[in-house]
Amino acid sequence: MGGWKGILGFEYGIVQAPLGPDISGPELVAAVANAGAIGILRAPDWESPDYLRELIRKTRTLTDKPFGVGIVLAFPHKENLKCVLEEKVAILQLYWGQVTKDIVTQSHQAGVKVVPQIGSFEEAQRAADAGVDAIIVQGHEAGGHVIGQEALIALVPRIVDLVASRGIPVIAAGGIVDERGYVAALALGAQGVCLGTRFLATEESYAHPMYKKKVVEMNKTEYTDVYGRARWPGAPHRVLTTPFFMKWRNLPTDENEANQPIIGHSTIHGTEKDIRVFAGTVPNKTTTGDIESMVMYAGEGVGLINDILPAAQVVKRLVEGAQILIQQNFTS
Ligand SMILES: Cc1cc2nc3c(=O)[nH]c(=O)nc-3n(C[C@H](O)[C@H](O)[C@H](O)COP(=O)(O)O)c2cc1C
Repeated sequence: MGGWKGILGFEYGIVQAPLGPDISGPELVAAVANAGAIGILRAPDWESPDYLRELIRKTRTLTDKPFGVGIVLAFPHKENLKCVLEEKVAILQLYWGQVTKDIVTQSHQAGVKVVPQIGSFEEAQRAADAGVDAIIVQGHEAGGHVIGQEALIALVPRIVDLVASRGIPVIAAGGIVDERGYVAALALGAQGVCLGTRFLATEESYAHPMYKKKVVEMNKTEYTDVYGRARWPGAPHRVLTTPFFMKWRNLPTDENEANQPIIGHSTIHGTEKDIRVFAGTVPNKTTTGDIESMVMYAGEGVGLINDILPAAQVVKRLVEGAQILIQQNFTS
């Protein structure tokens, strides 16, 4: 089986997804980078280049290895983008917006590789035409916001067929937790995998301890649009089916978080925020209040996560597990 190799100059083709808002901080990203994989910081959803610069520099005190920054294009980002290019971070990950030739050209001039996460064949086509360096294909299985409608098993090979001849590596995201998912993605023609929920349940992630516990304990998710409708309209997401969610999963379409009571507070990228009922912000380590009533994003693979691990262990298990699996089952 081909594809067993590092990508984009990294030792391995394993990507730790940027986890918003403020879940994948310097400690997680550095731990992933030190393990030879691709760690990605998450930029704030508002212009805050000085704060972002601090995050990047703090990460650099924890690792000599390259890493990335993720920017959600649906939010104000021009100054943050400028900061990523000035800091010459190895990877610029983009999501939920138009990846223009202009962004790609500017990034390449700064020596930064552009890796968008997309959710459809058409979006992959546009990204490839813009000249990106790799493409993360997000399947409907994914935790957090979900941009497409299709599952990975058919979408990945179609996009591989589209971009392989241009030398653009494809990275599969959604429901992948262990070496079986990793090897399955390689079989589909992907050269890498991107994991969100698995890296959320690590010692280094900023997810609230109660959220990590739920990821370990719970096995079911649902695709919904109940949370964050006012702040980020038209952005469906996959969440844990917590008791709070099950009670409100049929929330009338004209309801949203804007006029709801405050149930807690979080510090997100250094800024204190009120958390209202139905807000789209997952609890992080600073969050106080009614944590169990807050949104908890998770992918379909959550039932395969049974422990909170150091992030390096996640990478090690994927690499070693995949090598053994390929050797035992796919070589004669
Ligand atoms: C808590 C959480 C936050 C996320 N935040 C972002 C984000 O800010 N930007 C982004 O591109 N993707 C984000 N994602 C989606 C991931 O990039 C990725 O598609 C997804 O985690 C893959 O599915 P998995 O969770 O089953 O591994 C998030 C996912 C989770 C679980």
